[in-house]
Amino acid sequence: MHPMLNIAVRAARTAGNVITRAFEQADKVEIESKGTNDFVTNVDISAEQAIVETIRKSYPEHTIIGEETGQHEGADNDYQWIIDPLDGTTNFVKGIPHFAVSIALKVKGKLDQAVIYDPIRGELFTASRGKGAQLNGFRIRVKQNKELTGAILATGFPFKKKQHMTAYMSMFQALFEKTSDMRRAGSAALDLAYVAAGRVDGFFEIGLKPWDTAAGELLVIEAGGLVTDFTGGHNHTQSGNIVASSPGLLKEILKDIRPHLGEALSK
Ligand code: IPD
Ligand code: CA
Ligand code: CA
Repeated sequence: MHPMLNIAVRAARTAGNVITRAFEQADKVEIESKGTNDFVTNVDISAEQAIVETIRKSYPEHTIIGEETGQHEGADNDYQWIIDPLDGTTNFVKGIPHFAVSIALKVKGKLDQAVIYDPIRGELFTASRGKGAQLNGFRIRVKQNKELTGAILATGFPFKKKQHMTAYMSMFQALFEKTSDMRRAGSAALDLAYVAAGRVDGFFEIGLKPWDTAAGELLVIEAGGLVTDFTGGHNHTQSGNIVASSPGLLKEILKDIRPHLGEALSK
């Protein structure tokens, strides 16, 4: 295993322990609102601190960007870690056991290492640039479907940005008419990991943040899939509008998304 992936795995497991311990004592979790339908708990923050500490111990020079604690500038900006310490906070707060730790490393602006860890199921998804993607050490691959017929797509609702509801619902309707079914499980990181593992055929969501998607993007690519924005371009890190699936199915998904791109979504 690449030494930097090894550190990412160590950090993810440490954060996972913080999260599962707290999940068993839900009455002690402190919840605060960050914005409309957007919550943070003391557990998100402790998990992020544990990850930052683990990375800092081995790589004090690297830059770290965390959802909860912001940017920790290091002397070396070529190495950037992008962290979501707890993806699926709403599930966590409600007692739904579906959430994950997501850690990615970019080297000179390119995704290089990725870990998504589901601490409840003990599932560790990993990827290294050019080396494929694994689940608990076993190779995973994106399902190479070319058609929406029979496909299951994962998605997320724009619950923090309800101004996108009309556009989203139109896309959903167009896709739902053709697919077998949809899943809204509540963790974008796990949605992407499940695309990589071939558990779902594709994924789309509006307005995600870089820490929601960085690790998942590398997993999908290394598992033989594609990740684009809603126009088929590569602006998804900026826009947060993301589609992931096999290359063949992605074309079909975009056909049903494109007609509903409003002003706000076309960028
Ligand atoms: C959220 C989850 C959710 C997605 C949201 C994200 P958080 O992340 O990934 O599935 O629909 O857009 O913000 O806030 O739980 O880290
Ligand atoms: Ca997230
Ligand atoms: Ca989070």
